[in-house]
Amino acid sequence: MSTSEIHPNVKRVIYTEKEIKERVSELGRQISQDYKDSKNLVLVGILKGSFVFMSDLVRSIHLPNTNVSLEFMSISSYGAETSSSGVIRIMMDLRTSIEGKDVLIIEDIVDSGLTLKHLMELLNHRNPNSLHTAVLLRKKEGLKVDVPVRYMGFDIPMVFIIGYGLDFAENYRELPYLGELKEECYKK
Ligand code: XMP
Ligand code: MG
Repeated sequence: MSTSEIHPNVKRVIYTEKEIKERVSELGRQISQDYKDSKNLVLVGILKGSFVFMSDLVRSIHLPNTNVSLEFMSISSYGAETSSSGVIRIMMDLRTSIEGKDVLIIEDIVDSGLTLKHLMELLNHRNPNSLHTAVLLRKKEGLKVDVPVRYMGFDIPMVFIIGYGLDFAENYRELPYLGELKEECYKK
């Protein structure tokens, strides 16, 4: 990728399109192996950040003997714009029951882990057969709570990431790579 194709608010590209594609395919292979005996697998995408990751991931999943379905939830966490409080509010809930099904939550990024932890507790109460998580990015140094990530894309440093579905104030989701947002764009 030439520098002229990189968005001017991006400090550096953290992962290129090609690197993401390879990693996501690998995750898809692992998921296909682990769920080959599952009857019903429900992939729950957390909007909006996971939409690009999810669309690539599902196309790497090959489970001919499983009913694979996609559902979406939209949640928002209270708090400052670049960090979360972990108190989540459901803006859009699942439309179907997950009782007795194998559920895989698809998330874009885990920082403190609070959002995902609350979400797992919430969905566990609905009695799925199993509940696991696939997360594209994890800020390991940001973790405040222990939250199990079964399928992990990349561990990343404590910088603000945009692109490949991830936003800052609803912008930059369309960038095909994962980039570090320039600090002057979010710090005053
Ligand atoms: P917690 O701290 O609850 O945060 O694990 C997870 C949520 O915080 C947002 N988040 C980010 N969003 N780039 C983003 O676009 C980032 O670098 C970033 N760090 C945290 C995100 O909404 C995630 O669901
Ligand atoms: Mg966001």
